[in-house]
Amino acid sequence: MNDTPFPRPLPPPGGTICVVGAGFMGCVIATLYAHHGYAVVLCDMNAGMLDSFTERARPIAASFASEPAAIDAMLARVRPEASLSQAVKNAFLVHEAVQEVLETKQALFAELDALCPPQVVLATNTSSLLLSDIGARVQQRERLLGLHYITPGHIIRSIEIISADFTPPALIDWGRAFIESIDHVGVACGERPGFLINKIQFAMLTEIYRLMDEGIASRDDIDAAVRLSIGPRLALWGPLLTEDLIVSKTTALAVTDSLHRQTGDENYRGRPVLRELVEKGHLGAIKGQGWYRFDAPYGEIVQERDRQLTDLLEWLRERDPVGRLTPR
Ligand SMILES: NC(=O)c1ccc[n+]([C@@H]2O[C@H](COP(=O)([O-])OP(=O)(O)OC[C@H]3O[C@@H](n4cnc5c(N)ncnc54)[C@H](O)[C@@H]3O)[C@@H](O)[C@H]2O)c1
Repeated sequence: MNDTPFPRPLPPPGGTICVVGAGFMGCVIATLYAHHGYAVVLCDMNAGMLDSFTERARPIAASFASEPAAIDAMLARVRPEASLSQAVKNAFLVHEAVQEVLETKQALFAELDALCPPQVVLATNTSSLLLSDIGARVQQRERLLGLHYITPGHIIRSIEIISADFTPPALIDWGRAFIESIDHVGVACGERPGFLINKIQFAMLTEIYRLMDEGIASRDDIDAAVRLSIGPRLALWGPLLTEDLIVSKTTALAVTDSLHRQTGDENYRGRPVLRELVEKGHLGAIKGQGWYRFDAPYGEIVQERDRQLTDLLEWLRERDPVGRLTPR
């Protein structure tokens, strides 16, 4: 690896970020960066996309500010620029959001690599392409990073930080700090098909499509089942803390083994990480240690768990989110 210019401090708010691609995601990303005080230069090869930016960005900006003057001031921090070489000038970060076409991204990153000094971070918002493929024609690959927004990107707080074998750990740390500066949370993962969030999301959806294909359960029952059981728990604690709070690892392993025996599906075979916890006796909150450590007595943990879940379920019942979106 070349001498890396990382780690290095983040520029203060007011530093310049270039967003390339003013479509659906570029519009969201540019508005979010402007909201957090960065000076944004928005570049698109299609002049019409630059002309229509302000109009398309207004509803996004309205999530952050209600006063028209504040929205105007926010959007005024985004400067449209058709020329890529002009757009990247003074930028500490270039964030690409052009179409999900490998050749397009490869050509663009080769051009960015030639245009930008080595300390400039070159990020991609790709949903599915691998960083090593996108960077195939880039000389200074150690400044490439995936920063993948999840729709709606200005609201969903976690942003995936995708790295490749050639990514220095200091650049991942830099990515986390940058994402923190826009009040989001970076979740890091190595480049794999589906990255982190889609990998998890589609594991669930694939099972759901199968249940529907096989006529095992209906649309309404699937949504109600998830919304009123695993959904709230996942929103509060994530899958691993949830497991610690609700089930012993011995039982979790027995269930996966049973599913494996019944289906023959290797995906259900109890994984080494789970077996290891069982062998160590790290069975979950009940033993004071699972994936997490618990210092409070188990009874107190259960009471707090139930309080949080009751509050969330009550909040959801009062607001009737499904009823407000779909006809009765
Ligand atoms: N749409 C989503 O919900 C979503 C969510 C997460 C990630 N993504 C990813 O974000 C990226 C952008 O997706 P999108 O839906 O915003 O696409 P889009 O089609 O809405 O916009 C792409 C824009 O890039 C411009 N463009 C193309 N090549 C260019 C170049 N060389 N230089 C300058 N501008 C160029 C186009 O003119 C267009 O305006 C993709 O990689 C996509 O996979 C999309």
